[in-house]
This record gives sequence, structure tokens and C-alpha cells, in this order.
Amino acid sequence: MAETTTKANIGVVGLAVMGSNLARNLASREGNTVAVFNRSYEKTETLTSEHPEAGFIPATTYAEFAESLTTPRTAIIMVQAGRGTDAVIDELTKVFEPGDIIVDGGNALFTDTIRREKAVRETGINFVGAGISGGEEGALNGPSIMPGGSAEAWETLGPILKSIAAVAEGEPCVTHVGTDGAGHFVKMIHNGIEYADMQLIAEAYDLIRRGTNKSPAEIADIFAEWNKGELESYLIEITAEVLRQVDAETGNPLVDVILDQAGAKGTGAWTVQTALDLGIPVSGIAEAVFARSLSSKPAQRAASSDLPGPSEAWTVNDPDGFVEDVRRALYASKIIAYSQGFDEIVAGAEQYGWDIKKGDIAKIWRGGCIIRAQFLNRITEAYDENPGLVALLTAPYFREALEGTQEAWRRVVIAAAQGGIPSPAFSSSLAYYDGLRADRLPAALIQGQRDFFGAHTYKRVDRDGTFHTLWSGDRSEIEAVASH
Ligand code: 6PG
Repeated sequence: MAETTTKANIGVVGLAVMGSNLARNLASREGNTVAVFNRSYEKTETLTSEHPEAGFIPATTYAEFAESLTTPRTAIIMVQAGRGTDAVIDELTKVFEPGDIIVDGGNALFTDTIRREKAVRETGINFVGAGISGGEEGALNGPSIMPGGSAEAWETLGPILKSIAAVAEGEPCVTHVGTDGAGHFVKMIHNGIEYADMQLIAEAYDLIRRGTNKSPAEIADIFAEWNKGELESYLIEITAEVLRQVDAETGNPLVDVILDQAGAKGTGAWTVQTALDLGIPVSGIAEAVFARSLSSKPAQRAASSDLPGPSEAWTVNDPDGFVEDVRRALYASKIIAYSQGFDEIVAGAEQYGWDIKKGDIAKIWRGGCIIRAQFLNRITEAYDENPGLVALLTAPYFREALEGTQEAWRRVVIAAAQGGIPSPAFSSSLAYYDGLRADRLPAALIQGQRDFFGAHTYKRVDRDGTFHTLWSGDRSEIEAVASH
């Protein structure tokens, strides 16, 4: 490292695209001087030589990196989640001192963050798991940031993160989410909702395309139009652009050239696995994860391609009316996805002892992140009006929105079933909605079955206590058994 008297107030470790962009973003904000370190020095050199304007302080070793930072030292790790993160934390804890702050800005599993925070805290160093959303562009120009960790760490870190976060309606898209793993937990839910949102949009496109024979470019126009209304969001906006793209080589719509097998790095699956543990039905998100898995099973899909489908050809008589129905179905299902995601946040906060302000989470998702959308303001309003809201979809605004969309939603799900068009997220969201609405659920029958084969007991609607029936023979009377 060149001799330097200037010290940095913030450092970045890991200079792949996300790390480099975040470092450049930090350097571009007044008052920040940024130290940078990468395992292979080549990347550090490339970044510093390509961006002399940033005034980076490059380091060749962890010791140099620590030396170049003012105290309390603050470093953001931007490496691939997993073992790499542990290795960097190990190195940093050797050269940092009590009171310093290590921030993991990757997509870490929140339980790993809880474990790491506990271990690092014992050294007196603060560890903050921070979810950062917005992809490469967001990292450079302003992401949405979801930090966990201690209140003490937030005091130093808050102003720095506020300086680089996206701004929505004058407010920076960052808040102290809660302690230890709360930030990465909320980022995980963000990604789960992202999966559901993307799947719903994909189903909407597929239904319109197969139902009306419109071209991808025509459907791009529809999405661009939708983006002017209540569906306005980053994902709708980029969908129009993806659909409009033409493949330079073949001249075909690019979407027809792309292999129809969706990848996944795991955050959607974590959301569902965690929801299963917490007992929260995030069915829309789960279907979105499974739909990606199904798409990526070429052998099973090829073997199944001649299975029988609907005997009659599917036709849509009123294409404009159908497109409007799909728009409404999309909006209704999207409300369900967010509602389910927030249910999981509530359950996670309770399980792990986090004081998460749901309205604030909706606020910091309004800008910078992948699921940024106009209707997040409505979610904030709903939780501001009633912080104890038990289900987001019952808030007055969403109740009204569902009133205006549910008939169309049903028509779309019926059409999809009749046409043999897979719409797992649309239909599971509708089933969830109808499940919540139902006066009586067939869960009563399931309780009967459980009691029949396993004496699992049941409760009655007409009096307290726990009951078991002697199901066979003459004696079918109900017997009270001790509660357990
Ligand atoms: C974001 C994104 C980002 C990334 C995820 C999803 O918020 O900026 O969610 O974190 O795109 O890794 O990726 P997969 O679709 O590959 O799981």
C-alpha cells in the first residue's frame, strides 16, 4: 500500500461487481473515504485504476486494511454467502478491535448471521448482517438496505448507510430492522416476495400470450400500460423491457430464445423452509419456488409432454376483457404474496425476539430494491393505522382492492384450468384467500381422521375440553380425556 496520511471511515472487502459498485457508491457520497480490499490484489488494482475519482485507499493485506481505517473501524463484507464469509470474518476479527464493526452485506442465511453475531460479539467487535437489495445498479446508485445488529453499531453505521441508500419520497431506504439476524431475515422475506411477484408476472404473461395470441412486443405494451396504475413497480417495468427485447442473432423475441428453465440461488427456498418451521402458510411464495424447480426438470417435462390435456381448444372470446381480468388477478395475488410475507415477518419477529416495525419495512422497500412498488405506501399506511393488524389483506385499502378484483381472479383461474395453462401462484393465492375467508374448513374432518387412526383427540365447537371418540363398534360416544 502506498504511504498515506488520509484514513478511510469505511472499508469494503470483496470487490466483485456488487462490492465494487457499493464501494464506488460510498466513495461518491460526501464525507466518505473508502478503503478497499480483495483476496486477489488484481481486482483491487483494477477498481482503483479504473476509478481514480473515487480516491480509494487500496490495501494488500488485512492488516493494512485495518490500519487504513479510522476507529471505530467499519467494514462491509461483500463476498458470496457461505464459507467465504466466515473466512473473511475470521481474518477481520484478528486485525479489528473491540468497538469496531463488521458488516456482512451478502445474502446470508439469517440463522448463520445469528450464529456469527454471537461469536463475533464475544471479541467485543460488532457484527451486523445487512440485507442489500437492488442488484448491481442498486449497489452503485442506491440500494434498499436492511441492517440488523446492535443499536450501538447502528449509531456509527446508520449515517453511512443512509448516505448510500436509495431515497423514496425524501426518505432513505434503510432502517435498523432489529438485532442480530433480523436484517438478513427481512431480506430473505424480500426475496421470497420477489420470487412470488416474478412468478405471478410470468403467469400473467403466459395466460395473455396463450389466451390471446398477442406477441411479446404487444404484451410489453400491456405491461408498460399496467405500470402506470396500481401495479406500478420495478418488476412490471423491467418485464415490459424484457418482452420487447429482440434477439440480435435470430430476430426473434429474446424471450422465445431463452431456455425456459429458471435458476435460483436459494433465498426463496429459505423463505419457504423457514415458513414451514414457523407454521406460516406462504403458499404463493412456495409455488413460485416450486415452479422454478419444475421448470428445471427437463427429463420429467419431456417424458410428460404427451400426457393428456383439455380436449377442447381454449379460446378467449373477449381479449381486452381477459387482459383486464388478468391484471386484476395479478393485483389480487400480489396482495396475497405481500400479506403472506408480512405474516412470516411477524412470526419470525416473535420467534427470535425482534421488534420489527412492519410499516418501516414497507417504507424501505419503496425504493432501491427489486420489489419496489407504488403500493408499498399502502402497506405502510395499513400498519401505521393499525400496528396490530392480524392480516394485511384485511386492512380497508386491501379489502377494497380485493373486492374489486376477486371476481376477475376467479375467472382467470377457471380459464387457466380449462385451457390447461399452469398458474400455480394465481390459483394457490386464490385458494389461500378463500381458505382465510371460509366460515368452516374441512380441517374438522382431518381432526376426525387423526382421532380415528391415532387417537390424536379433537376440540368441539360447543364446549371446552379435549375429546376422543371410540370410533368403531357400538360405543361411538364421545369421551373426555385429560387435556395435554
Ligand atoms: C436483490 C435480489 C438479489 C438477487 C437474489 C435472487 O434483492 O437485489 O434479490 O439478492 O437477485 O440473489 O436471486 P435468485 O433468483 O438467483 O435466487
